[in-house]
Amino acid sequence: MKKRTEISTQDYVAEYYEEQRYHKPYARCYHDWWTQKMLSFVSCRGRILDNGCGTGILCEALLGKELEVVGVDISFKMLVYARKRMQRLVLGDSQRLPFADGAFDLIVGRSLLHHLHNPAHGVAEMARILRAGGEMLVVDTHRSLISAIPRLMANRGKHFSEDHKNMALLELVRIIGRHFIIDTIHCFGYLAYPIGFPDIIDIGKYLPFAVPMTKILIKIDELIAHIPLLKTQSWGVMIKATKRENLP
Ligand SMILES: C[S@@+](CC[C@H](N)C(=O)[O-])C[C@H]1O[C@@H](n2cnc3c(N)ncnc32)[C@H](O)[C@@H]1O
Repeated sequence: MKKRTEISTQDYVAEYYEEQRYHKPYARCYHDWWTQKMLSFVSCRGRILDNGCGTGILCEALLGKELEVVGVDISFKMLVYARKRMQRLVLGDSQRLPFADGAFDLIVGRSLLHHLHNPAHGVAEMARILRAGGEMLVVDTHRSLISAIPRLMANRGKHFSEDHKNMALLELVRIIGRHFIIDTIHCFGYLAYPIGFPDIIDIGKYLPFAVPMTKILIKIDELIAHIPLLKTQSWGVMIKATKRENLP
């Protein structure tokens, strides 16, 4: 069977994001925690790019702040949903961003890099359009003991294109370190993480008291994130970095 391209895959899953991933209360509870955790690593000010913005969920967390938030995504269907939450949207490829050099103060790429055919090009582009000293926050996959086999199996389904990867932390650090000073690496996502993806497997519907239970599992996850070695076996990783003043 012919695999879908990234654009057709994302056009297909956009509805699932809107009606399941960011709609079901237990999944939303997980993503709201995730978003707040991410944003705790950066100073949100000035001009911000939500790179691979999808349905624009990040923008909801930034509402009410005096910020200019721009979203870019390669999927038109994603942008149709994002329109409900964001005003400034651009259809474009993160590997060839349609913005001028140094145009942004902060770039967030939430679950973007592992979807790109060439993640290194995506990072180089983020470096190009950030001002010197600007911040980048990427949240991505982390190949670990708990994520390796489930992601291998999920990749065979209709929700992922051939470009979808389960990136290893070392690979992310290598491509980011070429252009950025890495300030923070935070492994996250253990027991509660799969509850956030009912569009792939709806674990939450089997959980009694799903929202309070999700909150309890998040608390346990926060404890695990402090245990040496164990914390490295996560589903995801958040990396906050600052653009190098003198690019090589
Ligand atoms: C896993 S989704 C994450 C969406 C959103 N950031 C979120 O957290 O809900 C990945 C997003 O990256 C977008 N994407 C994939 N390849 C892209 C590319 N080359 N350029 C721009 N966006 C891309 C997809 O269309 C999709 O919206």
